[in-house]
Amino acid sequence: MSEVASEATALAREAAPLKVGVVGLGYAGTTHAESYLRIPGVEVVALAGKEPDRLVHLGQTLGIPHLFDDWHDLVAMDELDIVSVATPNALHAPISIAALDAGKHVFCEKPLAITADEARRMGDAAARADRVLEVAFNHRRRADVQYLKRYLDEIGIGEIYHVRATWKRRAGIPGLTSWFTSKTLAGGGALIDLGPHVLDIVLFLLDEPHVTTVSAVTHGALGRAGYGAMDKGAQFAGGHTSFEVEDLASALLRTDRGTSIQYEISWAGHTADDEDISIELLGVEGGARLLVKRYASDGTLTIYRDIAGEAVDITPHVHVEDKGHPTVIGEFVRTVRSGRWAGHHGEDAVHRTEILDAAYESARLGKEVAL
Ligand SMILES: NC(=O)c1ccc[n+]([C@@H]2O[C@H](COP(=O)([O-])OP(=O)(O)OC[C@H]3O[C@@H](n4cnc5c(N)ncnc54)[C@H](O)[C@@H]3O)[C@@H](O)[C@H]2O)c1
Repeated sequence: MSEVASEATALAREAAPLKVGVVGLGYAGTTHAESYLRIPGVEVVALAGKEPDRLVHLGQTLGIPHLFDDWHDLVAMDELDIVSVATPNALHAPISIAALDAGKHVFCEKPLAITADEARRMGDAAARADRVLEVAFNHRRRADVQYLKRYLDEIGIGEIYHVRATWKRRAGIPGLTSWFTSKTLAGGGALIDLGPHVLDIVLFLLDEPHVTTVSAVTHGALGRAGYGAMDKGAQFAGGHTSFEVEDLASALLRTDRGTSIQYEISWAGHTADDEDISIELLGVEGGARLLVKRYASDGTLTIYRDIAGEAVDITPHVHVEDKGHPTVIGEFVRTVRSGRWAGHHGEDAVHRTEILDAAYESARLGKEVAL
């Protein structure tokens, strides 16, 4: 196609409204629907979920005409351009693959999938259909993370040889008996829930190295004993066995560039850390620490250097507006409208899932696993 013709096609694509269907009515699904509705030329026309009252309520408040109990009916709608997946993790792969096979673009919540094999099948489905598969790595779009990336690109801290990356909660298990703590529905616990965001930020800041080995441990004794629920009402007596996943995972990752990454994620712990995200980059010429306590919006970033022979702490004034969903969904819609979909078939998200999968395998085997 000539340049003029392809520009005309892109403009026509921009002019036509994009029609979206969202699966899931929880925090994630609601945030997806609200984020699309802020974008001119995007219409949310369908919603699916298992809570009938909430389905009708959300449909009415957001003006969404087609409401379904089951995702199959939503994916079957011919008029949809985009399917947004915000369900329990185990449904991400079946819904996304069905939607991609039906020619829709897919925006999927993290984790992409519960196993590396599923993630690869999702990436293959996107490539086969030549449709966009994007994942909700929204925290990467925080203004402080974006500033740190610009700082690394424009000024740098020398060779980054080691990273310490954690997300720790004191009592943050999202429901001791919810789908989040079912191995079948969630695929894992804290690591697969909070871990994708931390891993995504680190790999983004490091310019996408390939992780070559993972050595990990997981623990679930706290959750099994009935401690650590986010909602105290849901706490059960010790000895209950339906907490099937880990509340803490700790891992050492090696990359093909020699950078090592110490990575620890926990939903709960008898500790001072409570809803703290911390990412420390140790470089030869300087260091940087992103410390986000309880989703703080200001004062989260410090750069460390030696200047004129003295240690200096630099604290950029960066304000964080939100947790990033509107930005990542806006970027996804721009990619869909661009018509240039090569390289947007979920490639980065597949590698992140392979790393998480390798961490679980390493913990199960009790030894380091190579990717
Ligand atoms: N990116 C983020 O910051 C972020 C934040 C929260 C949750 N999440 C992710 O979003 C996803 C959903 O989390 P949540 O907290 O909103 O969960 P939730 O339990 O509140 O909502 C899940 C929704 O899926 C629906 N669902 C389940 N089975 C279905 C089916 N067969 N057909 C149609 N709908 C079905 C349920 O009815 C429910 O409305 C998870 O993968 C989670 O990891 C991401």
